[in-house]
Amino acid sequence: MTTTHRIGVIAGDGIGKEVIPAGIAAIEKATRGSSVSVSFSDLPWSCEYYTRHGRMMDEDGYERMAAFDALYMGALGAPGVSDAASAGLILGIRQKFDQYVNLRPMRLLKGLSSPLANRGAAEIDMICVRENSEGEYSGVGGRIHRGTAHEVAQQVGVFTRNGIERILRYGFEIAATRPRRMLASATKSNALTHSMVLWDEVAEIVRQDYPGVEYRKYHVDALAARMITHPQTLDVMVTSNLFGDILTDIGSAISGSLGIAPGANINPTRTHPSMFEPIHGSAPDIAGTGIANPIGAIWAGALMLEHLGHRDLHDRVLSAIERVVATGTVRTPDLGGSSKTTDVANAIVGEI
Ligand code: NAD
Ligand code: IPM
Ligand code: MN
Repeated sequence: MTTTHRIGVIAGDGIGKEVIPAGIAAIEKATRGSSVSVSFSDLPWSCEYYTRHGRMMDEDGYERMAAFDALYMGALGAPGVSDAASAGLILGIRQKFDQYVNLRPMRLLKGLSSPLANRGAAEIDMICVRENSEGEYSGVGGRIHRGTAHEVAQQVGVFTRNGIERILRYGFEIAATRPRRMLASATKSNALTHSMVLWDEVAEIVRQDYPGVEYRKYHVDALAARMITHPQTLDVMVTSNLFGDILTDIGSAISGSLGIAPGANINPTRTHPSMFEPIHGSAPDIAGTGIANPIGAIWAGALMLEHLGHRDLHDRVLSAIERVVATGTVRTPDLGGSSKTTDVANAIVGEI
């Protein structure tokens, strides 16, 4: 019997539209001849859509998205449309669908060189478990006295005991399955004396349930430095929303390029679809030139297959990425090569 998964695709803007076809081709190749079939439906929401309609998606967008088994996203953002408007769709989906985990592996693949000197694949292998529904990104706040000298802007961080506990627990569960069984909690309780003190208190409670996992807490500034100076001492890191955003760009960069790391926005209760995307943005500086690295998007597609219950297909796609990277002949310019997006996509699809 064939299992069919229905995927809503928001390729979006810029290089999002260039890397998503690569990911779809990889998924189609991986599932061909298997008992799994995947049907993709385009959701044409983007900055171009915004320019025409004055909003980022159709009014019934959430209801339409809710009908899919998962969502696959490229990137949103284009010059001429405010980043707050375009990012609003991403943040809206993460909150509305309670995708409270943002899972972001950051790994130096064999054969690639890190911008960090003398670091090999064995030393950069981390995964960030980023809180994805509240914190600094809660959206609470406002502006008053606009345009006057008395203008006030307030951006309120919202941290709930439940929100902190569930993300830490998710992180500990993952850490318990990894060979190194280490969990680094990113805090800043020296300066954020309300929210991050609560964060640390909850971590102290949750860690009791995972005696087999080595728990460490680091102030986020020191953790950022540690990723550069001692990446081999880091495994799973659990972070608030904003801290995770910043640390995962660092993690991706030290893994060779921002074009590599994937992200999974997961609703662990499966009451709503989860969403899979590369962590990079629409890269207006290279959009349209055909040189975007499609690896982050393809890897995100693999994470989607895993979430849908197909670990074997995930592994098949990921090992094809690994083989192509290790061979070293087909690489986009961000990795020092001169290949095009389509060359890399074809090589990976061929390996699958
Ligand atoms: P960005 O990730 O788009 O680009 C940062 C740098 O990394 C650029 O120099 C870009 O060329 C390079 N880069 C990124 N992805 C690459 C890839 N796959 N291959 C090769 N090089 C790559 O970040 P930014 O410049 O801060 O943001 C651009 C736009 O994207 C903004 O509108 C921003 O709001 C949006 N954005 C969207 C998402 C998303 O949709 N998930 C994520 C981040 C940024
Ligand atoms: C990411 C992006 C988003 C974030 C933006 C587009 C709001 O940078 O997915 O990392 O900050 O979460
Ligand atoms: Mn980001």
